[in-house]
Amino acid sequence: MQVDRRAFLATLGVGSLELMSPEDRAEALEHYMMDELDRALPGTSPREQEMREEAEYHKQQGAQPRGTGRLLLPQTRVLEPMPPRPTLLDFYRLRFSPANHVLQSATHALRTGQPERTVMACLLHDVVLNLIKADHGWWGAQLMEPYVDERISWGIRYHQALRFYPDESVGYEYPELYNRIFGEDYVPEPYIRQAYEHARAHAWYMEARLITVNDLYAFDRDAQVSIDPFVDIIGRNFKQPPEGLGFDNSASAHMWRTIAHADKPL
Ligand SMILES: [Fe+2]
Ligand SMILES: [Fe+2]
Repeated sequence: MQVDRRAFLATLGVGSLELMSPEDRAEALEHYMMDELDRALPGTSPREQEMREEAEYHKQQGAQPRGTGRLLLPQTRVLEPMPPRPTLLDFYRLRFSPANHVLQSATHALRTGQPERTVMACLLHDVVLNLIKADHGWWGAQLMEPYVDERISWGIRYHQALRFYPDESVGYEYPELYNRIFGEDYVPEPYIRQAYEHARAHAWYMEARLITVNDLYAFDRDAQVSIDPFVDIIGRNFKQPPEGLGFDNSASAHMWRTIAHADKPL
């Protein structure tokens, strides 16, 4: 996917790039690319409308916080009601849609014969961005932790830090795009470096690394993707609570409820 640097900078507002830390810029770029991807596909007109509203909102807000997920931003779209006992698939259909980026990364993992656990991790790795963008690796891990193999949520936690560090053994190079956007001399913040070093020395390192590898193949505007090939994989790898996500009293049930009822006033 080609990124129009000027269009990207325009979404940030005048002068705000200088005010942002490199991590914030990286986040902003990733979200910009994901949003562009969703915008580019046919049949997404309500989403297009929503995107315009988000861009307008950010323009008006100037240098205000940007870590808010799209479901919590002002919008004219009325959220479709969720079924009383919502499943993960209901969330993909009614709250995460079109979810092109995660579907593309999971599709790449599936087609290249990667372990099912990796496919599942790719499918889940960025959906928390709908709720919150800042430090999405950590938030995303927490959201999924009660329902997946520990290695899946671990991988989601550390993919955020690992994307800045190359690993030739699996063909992951530092994205050339980051050089162009952040400059050649960019150095990640100390907490990101620390997280990377922790993950690098951990027995589960590859769980997170493979997410970043598949991430590279997940910004294709022309790819046609669907959740259908993943229904059985979800069935085997996600412990769907019978009460429905949000109502099972798990450690992250409140996060699922907030995603489901993002339009609640209190
Ligand atoms: Fe991510
Ligand atoms: Fe991603």
